[in-house]
Amino acid sequence: MKGIILAGGSGTRLYPLTLVTSKQLLPVYDKPMIYYPLSVLMMAGIQDILILSTPEDTPRFEELLKDGSSFGIRLSYLVQPKPEGLAQAFLLGESFLGTDSACMILGDNIFHGDGLIRHLQEAKKRAERGTATVFGYPVKDPERFGTAEFDKDGRPLRIVEKSPSPQSNQAITGLYFYPQGVSSLAKTLSPSERGELEITDLNNLYLQHGRMEIDLLGRGYSWLDTGTMDSLTDACFFVKAIEDHQDRKLCCPEEIAFNNGWIDKEELLKAATRMAKSDYGQYLFKLAKLKEKTH
Ligand code: TTP
Repeated sequence: MKGIILAGGSGTRLYPLTLVTSKQLLPVYDKPMIYYPLSVLMMAGIQDILILSTPEDTPRFEELLKDGSSFGIRLSYLVQPKPEGLAQAFLLGESFLGTDSACMILGDNIFHGDGLIRHLQEAKKRAERGTATVFGYPVKDPERFGTAEFDKDGRPLRIVEKSPSPQSNQAITGLYFYPQGVSSLAKTLSPSERGELEITDLNNLYLQHGRMEIDLLGRGYSWLDTGTMDSLTDACFFVKAIEDHQDRKLCCPEEIAFNNGWIDKEELLKAATRMAKSDYGQYLFKLAKLKEKTH
């Protein structure tokens, strides 16, 4: 399976913060926003990842994350010339994906919860067997999202985009798993009224073909998007509260890579030394020391 992070868009709801920089490079407490979706892909065990962004911002992501080797992964970069919809990622990413299954995550989505890795790995296995997975999450304002509709037995019928009177409060999050061939299916879509290739249209095709599971994330999970000033601020406090309380970092790619055996202690210490003056760097030193104690 290969991964895609869609990190373009215009971020107009965060102006003036995003007038000259990408939303996904803004801090969410102690790390750049893109570290969070990147960590989710790494937790799913994905090591080949394409980052799609705007013509202006793509070089900045490349400067930050380079070829991914410090995280034990392989990163590629591609420009999305205009924000013409989430499903466009699969047209742009067609040759990157080749014959692999795909996991796409939006660059401004944050996921947290015990057992998340299990959900990710199950979705990955399903995609490899031909069934797509999206995740539902209960929200207070479902009219702002794509929401799932279910029949009386709880089977998913369709996903409706920004319905004024949604049938359920289950918003579809920005994390999608698809079987091999998603690019061919995305090619059959036509742009919506707002001129975008809609991910909801793609998801409905999978639902119609009986090849889609909607995995509902329960109480133990948090899903945050960071598209508005309030949600971005909430996300910063959320991360800070958890990190302070547990004395562990959320979505630290070096830690995930180290635990997955994708980088060794030497590589971890190199990253720690580079950032020694920050709390983040000190955390990496601590991880390396802990490992010494357990061996
Ligand atoms: P949005 O939040 O819908 O769009 P945006 O980031 O441009 O923000 P705003 O509404 O404030 O102008 O996008 C969700 C995520 O998807 C975000 O991470 C940007 C990304 N995105 C793309 O990379 N390309 C696209 O074509 C679209 C529509 C979104």
